[in-house]
Amino acid sequence: MKSIIIYYSQTGNTRKIAQAIHAGMSQTGEPCEIARLKDVDPHGLASYDLIGLGSPLIHSREHRNVGRFLGSLRHVDGKHAFAFCTHGAIPGYYFQRVVPAMEQKGLTVIGWKNWFCAAYHPIIPKPYFTDGHPDAIDLKEAEDFGREMVERSQRVSLGETDLIPTLPKGKEYDERYFPVADSFSGDDGSWKRLVVRDSFKINTEKCNYPKCTYCADNCPNDAIDLSASPPIFDRDCDLCFLCEQICPRGAIEYDYEPLENSHKPLNISVLQSSVNAFEAKGLFRRLVPDEKIGWETSFRTLKKPPRFKIDY
Ligand SMILES: Cc1cc2nc3c(=O)[nH]c(=O)nc-3n(C[C@H](O)[C@H](O)[C@H](O)COP(=O)(O)O)c2cc1C
Repeated sequence: MKSIIIYYSQTGNTRKIAQAIHAGMSQTGEPCEIARLKDVDPHGLASYDLIGLGSPLIHSREHRNVGRFLGSLRHVDGKHAFAFCTHGAIPGYYFQRVVPAMEQKGLTVIGWKNWFCAAYHPIIPKPYFTDGHPDAIDLKEAEDFGREMVERSQRVSLGETDLIPTLPKGKEYDERYFPVADSFSGDDGSWKRLVVRDSFKINTEKCNYPKCTYCADNCPNDAIDLSASPPIFDRDCDLCFLCEQICPRGAIEYDYEPLENSHKPLNISVLQSSVNAFEAKGLFRRLVPDEKIGWETSFRTLKKPPRFKIDY
């Protein structure tokens, strides 16, 4: 039985979880590969029996590249698959979106799992509710999950089809993954169109283009055109802020005010209610006490770019 784990990761959390899942799967002695999303041909998975797909939650959904990848999957009919994600305070409708999308491609989804992880959005409080994750306990859980997925896949192949789980629906789903669904204002993306184009600026005194094209090279959506004057951040920009966080010189500047004013979905008290609800259910282990949450500080005010060095 041959497996592959495919993951997308911006700030490393999903990568760590994917690696731990891979370690667990490999403990079974079955061959298992691990690959970054961008290195995988969605038409080239015919030789695998079990496919794991992981993404961070970005603006309440799978990363756009993961969605595109799922949409272009071919030749996976009848294969087993599992979904995993990492997120800050709200896993939301991730599995409700991704599991049916996998099934539509003919995959039999034999499991799914989410992990609360540190979040590095420039306007969220720092320290944040989920900081400190993934820790050793999360990674051990991921390892166990990986082993379980291989073992379950083997048993399902031998006829134990009752081991295939059913994704909870409606209130049952919300109870498990979205306890604040009723107070969440939703995200139709319109706020993004309002703020993207005018809000990103490149400080030409700091920018080292054309010697450096690091932001454009690493933009997940290929949305930065540095050759234009002024450089263009086009409509494919997903407001993930990766460019702003990795620029070695802090040359990408952003006017946060419209974002802070218009980003209604990022209502911090809803995020707090969410982690409280998960903690009460024993589904979230708080590593940052409530009184340490940085209500008055945000990631961007605490740490100047480069906040991340991409090492993968
Ligand atoms: C632009 C952006 C949007 C995000 N949106 C959400 C979200 O809607 N819900 C959530 O729980 N976490 C959200 N997060 C937090 C990430 O999902 C979390 O940090 C995740 O573990 C990142 O994974 P990675 O390190 O593999 O990139 C967001 C983070 C960023 C940078």
